[in-house]
Amino acid sequence: MGTVPSRTLRCCGFFHSDAKHPVSRISKHANRLVFAAHVLNVSRSHETLGVSPENLKSGPGSEWSVPNGYARPGCATAVEPSRGNARPLTIKHAMTKQPSTTVNVSLGDRSYEIVITHGGLTHVAEHVRQWGERLGDTNLGDTNVGSTRYGAWPSTERKAVLVTDKNVRPHAEAVQHSFATDDWDTELIVIEPGEKSKRLEVVSQLYDRLVDIPADRRTLVVAVGGGVVGDAAGFVAATYVRGLPFVQVPTSLLADVDSSVGGKVGINHPQAKNLIGAFHQPIGVFIDTDVLGTLPVREYRSGLAEVIKYGVILDADFFAYLEDHLTGLNDREPGVLTHAIARSCRLKADVVEQDEYEQTGLRAVLNYGHTFAHAYEALAGYGELLHGEAVAIGMVDASRLAERRGLIDASVTGRQIDLLKAVGLPTSRPDGATWSADDVLGRMRLDKKSLAGKLRFILPTKLGHVELFDDVPESDVKAVL
Ligand SMILES: NC(=O)c1ccc[n+]([C@@H]2O[C@H](COP(=O)([O-])OP(=O)(O)OC[C@H]3O[C@@H](n4cnc5c(N)ncnc54)[C@H](O)[C@@H]3O)[C@@H](O)[C@H]2O)c1
Ligand SMILES: [Zn+2]
Repeated sequence: MGTVPSRTLRCCGFFHSDAKHPVSRISKHANRLVFAAHVLNVSRSHETLGVSPENLKSGPGSEWSVPNGYARPGCATAVEPSRGNARPLTIKHAMTKQPSTTVNVSLGDRSYEIVITHGGLTHVAEHVRQWGERLGDTNLGDTNVGSTRYGAWPSTERKAVLVTDKNVRPHAEAVQHSFATDDWDTELIVIEPGEKSKRLEVVSQLYDRLVDIPADRRTLVVAVGGGVVGDAAGFVAATYVRGLPFVQVPTSLLADVDSSVGGKVGINHPQAKNLIGAFHQPIGVFIDTDVLGTLPVREYRSGLAEVIKYGVILDADFFAYLEDHLTGLNDREPGVLTHAIARSCRLKADVVEQDEYEQTGLRAVLNYGHTFAHAYEALAGYGELLHGEAVAIGMVDASRLAERRGLIDASVTGRQIDLLKAVGLPTSRPDGATWSADDVLGRMRLDKKSLAGKLRFILPTKLGHVELFDDVPESDVKAVL
């Protein structure tokens, strides 16, 4: 401390801790202690903390790393300069050692991390702080990310708007608690669940709330929910004052592996899905596999269709992994889920990194099975057939089309059918579906991904590889319908 007059504060036998975070919560398994911003200097700690002096960093919001993995109750000594009010050493909270897997999405100054963990929802804010600090480091304070200016958030400027839907509100409240613990002012906005919330009126209500707060360019938007919440809240984040920082906390499997990766946000027009939108990358994505425990089984399986899709289009080994881990997959085992989600995110990120704005055509490979699926969803009536269910059927149809074109043999289709069935997904049109092959073709021509009415298909040429074909005769398509 040199000549700066200081006052030493000492607490012994227990940590001073704010009421929300009783000592008992940090007595075990904590590997990092985070101090309130007003603790300016931490000079040393008692050895019972398990912290060696060289690991003590000081400064506002100091964090101690506890190298041996946990901190025990004990004594801590903090020194605060006498200027300003001396306050007791406050341990804001302790970070439990969270095993997590990180997928990095590399998009230049729009790069971000996808953190996948289990049971870590109450730690979201700690990761957001790191993301903010990293952004701040890039350009000391304010930084330009796309058209948005923001950086690390000083404690006086931490405002977060959390958007969720009624079904996942408890998860959003856990996230809110995490932010509140880290000195954020939070506002929780709960929208109706379901696709109907992806519409202009809902977005307009969200804008109104942001005006009321009032939000500014540093206000963080956090989407806690499935793809609907992510797409709608993300669209608001992309457009309000030309862009707010945005964090995704996906809660459905589909959102984990698909909608939260890649920066597409948007809403529906009464005439067409996802017609109004933007590209707006989040500053980070936080996935907790634990929240999938409350996801209805049909929704869960629907997400699995996209997971399986990644195996077919990009990674035969991953496909084999899924075949080998059926029990874990069906039982939502954290280890299997973490691998399946991380690999899916990695594979999607690889594509997005090469074709962020869907210009080179590469991103189109992600639409395997989707030309059929979009038609089936529309013909069945949206909501009757879940997206993933339609994709499962569509993948089988696309694979049959590839067989017919001589691109693959029947075993490639057979393996897909077996895996899809084993996770409870349909592989053929639902009983009672009355639409004809012409109905399906008619719908396909309306798809916004078909260029000038010309049908385009992503077809496998082997397991783990697909290509784009725009020369498939309609007679071949009809033959597989
Ligand atoms: N932006 C993209 O790149 C992209 C990619 C794929 C899909 N999407 C969009 O994503 C949307 C579909 O996403 P979705 O399948 O997550 O739909 P969704 O958000 O409607 O979620 C499905 C249902 O599950 C509920 N739910 C979600 N998580 C839950 C949980 N943990 N526990 C209990 N209930 C839970 C929701 O409330 C909802 O009722 C579509 O609008 C689609 O257009 C976007
Ligand atoms: Zn899809």
